[in-house]
Amino acid sequence: MHYKLALLGFGNVGRTTAELLLDKQTDLKESYGITFSITAIATGSKGRAINPAGLDIPKVLEATRAGAALEQFSLVSSSDSLDFINKSGADVLFENSPVNYATGQPAIDHIRAALNLGMHVVTANKGPVVHAWHDLKALAKSKQRQFFHEATVMDGAPIFSLFRGALPAAKLRSFKAILNSTTNLILSRMENGESFDDSVKYAQEIGIAETDPAGDVDGWDAAIKIAALATVLMNTPLKPAEIERTGIRSITPEMIRAARTEGLRYKLICSAAQEQGVLKGKVSPELIPMSSPFYSVEGTTSIIQFQTDVLGDLTLIESDPGPHTTAYGLLADFVHAVTAG
Ligand SMILES: NC(=O)c1ccc[n+]([C@@H]2O[C@H](COP(=O)([O-])OP(=O)(O)OC[C@H]3O[C@@H](n4cnc5c(N)ncnc54)[C@H](OP(=O)(O)O)[C@@H]3O)[C@@H](O)[C@H]2O)c1
Repeated sequence: MHYKLALLGFGNVGRTTAELLLDKQTDLKESYGITFSITAIATGSKGRAINPAGLDIPKVLEATRAGAALEQFSLVSSSDSLDFINKSGADVLFENSPVNYATGQPAIDHIRAALNLGMHVVTANKGPVVHAWHDLKALAKSKQRQFFHEATVMDGAPIFSLFRGALPAAKLRSFKAILNSTTNLILSRMENGESFDDSVKYAQEIGIAETDPAGDVDGWDAAIKIAALATVLMNTPLKPAEIERTGIRSITPEMIRAARTEGLRYKLICSAAQEQGVLKGKVSPELIPMSSPFYSVEGTTSIIQFQTDVLGDLTLIESDPGPHTTAYGLLADFVHAVTAG
């Protein structure tokens, strides 16, 4: 079966996804009978391109890297992102625009428009998951389409699909995790004597922290991931502002050194658990002892430990994630969406 794909958002994730789709073309065809063409790509400031016959992706990637606008590749003009979705003629929308912690927009409108047009939607954008998951899932169901978002938490590691597929009837009671790569890297580097500012600078240089690192260091990224997990896996629609949140700005090199002499490490821990019948989400720095599986989680690596009603502690560790692992989450969602019964 042949699918036309639209990529809305062509930054780190969008571009890496395009590259991975090309790399996996033969596997997708041989293992699943899936062929595809990328017929539409949109950015915020570098324009949009639609070609129903399929865009020349290596050329588009080269032009994008050189900072060129996308219109030169387009056979169909579009006035904005919603007009782009309308005219894309795609079967699947990959929504990878920047996250909006407060409202989830404009991604929610993008996803709603695509589902209404009968497209499947896959996204790495956490905003729509915490701000509109129930509505978007219901809309997808009414249109007999899929809305998947594996890459929103722990990149390509299977979390949502684990509960959807491999753990039928399991109830997630609580979880504990390190979900923000940037802060874990900063804390690891500070342990080696680097200052907070230099560690942040390094994280920006290697492309994992944004120019304004507040979303990571103040715990917003961690909070929105807790909210996404609670919303989808625990049927409790928490918002990022409802998560008790402390970032890592108050952790000094002296505190880190003192902890090390006692065999402890600071980690930014995410959790959700019932307290007196109410699900509480929390992100805050905690001192972790050597006996914990969280102790040795270094650099950008992340970890999550689930407590369910059917298994003992179930732990997933994802080493060295990045745009390539996020891209895999999106590719896996694409395969699941188009092969779902
Ligand atoms: N980077 C990761 O490893 C990672 C991991 C997990 C999840 N995510 C999520 O994935 C999404 C994309 O991340 P990224 O790292 O690729 O971000 P990015 O590099 O900043 O790219 C964002 C892309 O979206 C475009 N864009 C902005 N506003 C738009 C709009 N209204 N309509 C269409 N396109 C628009 C941008 O275009 P301009 O640059 O021209 O404005 C750019 O092409 C985010 O939601 C992020 O939270 C990222």
